[in-house]
Amino acid sequence: MVQIHDKSFGPYISADEIRQKVQELANQINKEYEGKELIFISILNGSFMFAADLMKCITIPCEISFVKVSSYQGTNTSGRVDELIGLNTTIDHKHIIILEDIVDTGITMNKIFNYLSSFEPASLKIASLLYKPDAFEGKHKPDLVGFSIPNAFVIGYGLDYNEHGRNYDAIYKLIEN
Ligand code: IMP
Repeated sequence: MVQIHDKSFGPYISADEIRQKVQELANQINKEYEGKELIFISILNGSFMFAADLMKCITIPCEISFVKVSSYQGTNTSGRVDELIGLNTTIDHKHIIILEDIVDTGITMNKIFNYLSSFEPASLKIASLLYKPDAFEGKHKPDLVGFSIPNAFVIGYGLDYNEHGRNYDAIYKLIEN
């Protein structure tokens, strides 16, 4: 069990399960994007660990760029997203995969997707380690999903509760009292 601030979290997805799933996602990408100009766009902060582990399993030529949006505090999505900061590469006519830690309501992804599609990439797909289909009300479902999970709050492997808990190599679920 993990204690962060005022909340307790129990084990949910192990480091081994994550490792295996990340390898599977990478295998799929290696196959689908062979011979294409591929750029990963990793959404900070949450996806840093997913992006790093996934990249180690990518065997085809690719670039990665890290961008930042701000919008999320506590255990509820505010639905507010500011500009994407840090896109320091040209993405027009390239094949883009957005890397996210989690797609919850999908509101953040709507804005990221719309922003990036305005640059007219050759293709634009979303890879999200976690996806909450019951909470989803967005327009762009992730194309590649590690784990579909119920509508619960999780931390670890990059995901935070008020900025803590990102450091764990496994995913933990909020224990509701
Ligand atoms: P959405 O706009 O509701 O899809 O939320 C997107 C962002 O909310 C994610 O990138 C996360 O930063 C955050 N988020 C959503 N659910 C969780 C969770 O269960 N744990 C930690 N962060 C979450």
